Amino acid sequence: MTAALPYANGPLHLGHIRSTYLPADIYARYHRLIGNDVLYICATDEHGTPIVAGAEKEKKSPKELVDYYHDRDKLEFGALGFSFDIFHRTSSEENCELTQQFFKKLSGNGHIYTKTVAQPYCETDKRFLPDRFVVGTCPHCKSERQYSDYCENCGRTLSAGEILNPVCITCGKKPISRESKHYFFKLASFSDRLQQYLTGNKSLQPEVTNYLLNWIKEGLVDWDISRDLDWGVPIPGEPGKVFYVWFDAPIGYVSSTKALTPKWEEYWKGDSKIVHFIGKDIIYHHFLFWPAMLLGVGDGFRVPDAIAVRGYLNLEHRKFSKSKNWFVSIEEYLKAFPADYLRYYQTAFTPHSVVDADFIWKDFQTKINNELVASIGNFVHRALILIEKQNGGIAPKPAALDAEDEKVLGEIAKAKEKVSALISSFQLKEGQEEILKLSGEFNRYLSFRQPWKEKDAQRNATTLYVCTRAISALAILLEPYLPFTTEKLQKMVGIERETVKWANADAELILPGKKIGPAKPLFEKISDEKIEEQEKKLKKV
Ligand code: MSP
Ligand code: ZN
Repeated sequence: MTAALPYANGPLHLGHIRSTYLPADIYARYHRLIGNDVLYICATDEHGTPIVAGAEKEKKSPKELVDYYHDRDKLEFGALGFSFDIFHRTSSEENCELTQQFFKKLSGNGHIYTKTVAQPYCETDKRFLPDRFVVGTCPHCKSERQYSDYCENCGRTLSAGEILNPVCITCGKKPISRESKHYFFKLASFSDRLQQYLTGNKSLQPEVTNYLLNWIKEGLVDWDISRDLDWGVPIPGEPGKVFYVWFDAPIGYVSSTKALTPKWEEYWKGDSKIVHFIGKDIIYHHFLFWPAMLLGVGDGFRVPDAIAVRGYLNLEHRKFSKSKNWFVSIEEYLKAFPADYLRYYQTAFTPHSVVDADFIWKDFQTKINNELVASIGNFVHRALILIEKQNGGIAPKPAALDAEDEKVLGEIAKAKEKVSALISSFQLKEGQEEILKLSGEFNRYLSFRQPWKEKDAQRNATTLYVCTRAISALAILLEPYLPFTTEKLQKMVGIERETVKWANADAELILPGKKIGPAKPLFEKISDEKIEEQEKKLKKV
């Protein structure tokens, strides 16, 4: 499995997490817990004109810029608990080599041709101006100040020369047109096969495939995979030319796997499953370019088995924008709150669909306080404190179970199955809701039994035993979602690491007679002041 490779030209923000890295991490952790052999692959995407332009703006070399963001992204992803098996980079030797191999195979298979094309060239800056070096008006939706390769407004990929009223981003002058030899990938010739792929693969989201099938119907155009630039993977035998960043970036998924394990081909060509997680702005590249490349290379490569697409995140009803300071970076978030709160909140409003959503500080507070603190945290803490008070912190031994005990224990087994089915079909939000329901069920159970009032010691021991079963269930079912919390909880109640398996969610993992605790709250209520502090930061500008 892969998560889209983040561009190494700016800090990560909450949006990246919502659509891509968090859902992928939940999915990866779940599959590890059920015993599957998972590789969760990611890397920084280090080529392309956004990087070169970004470096020029900061008066750094592209290499300096990508080194900085590679290290920084890696640290921040780690702090959010993302469990990549490798976090590599597309400027690596492995990626350079594999990209050139892909190119040679595609050429050998007749899928590449060259053509002389007119390219924008800036006479002031003395260079060709591919992609982000030119801004202009989108020919489709007429939106202004769009980059020449992609319209942010209508989401279309543009080819060279399509943009209207082009100007150079560095000097603002109108470029002239100069001829250059370019390499094209015969994307149009894959139309039928791509159509079959999109209609034949039932795990792709219909809202996405319908839109793509329309695009295919309108007619795909061949894809220019070369750029007159010196930052990128060199095109063999063509000094001054590199591959377009979207050619080598998805190959980065494969080359990073290769850097991780000599068995990489078993994963990409064997009977494993390939699953990509992406945000909705890069659908075109993952559902059309990438499968066509894999089909064209042949060589036994699997096309993606699933591509999970999620919508965009806005911040308090406005687009994230670094330049307008409408932005919450991961770094800033983590200074104020634990990683698991972000994981919980974002999962709670992210269905398996392309709908957009808003990050709202007030909603964040409400969700954490009413659900994490008041339901899950409260149940676990109440039960553990009762065990300390009534049983000296020793996990209780049950007497005979009655119908009510059996019923709530049955709820654990049911939740385990339901959450499993939901995560497997990418319904991560619904899976989390199911776990919350389970803690709600046990809060009710505890209030119904009232061990703080009940005089029958045997009855109380049984009640608290039943609660330990729910605590261990939560310690396992929540692990994909809240890995820091479950690690803490597992240690607190003495669950051995080897027994942490999905199959054991309804097993007896907190052994009666064993000393557990001391109980410490899993979560902390978020105060109004803390939220206002965050809101103020945004309103400063
Ligand atoms: N480098 C490419 C991906 C190459 S994959 C072979 C890229 N990088 S990115 O840094 O712009 O985005 C990384 C991921 O974050 C993408 O899946 C993208 O869709 C997602 N998001 C970026 N901004 C986002 C929001 N505001 N909201 C939700 N997802 C966002 O694209
Ligand atoms: Zn447009």
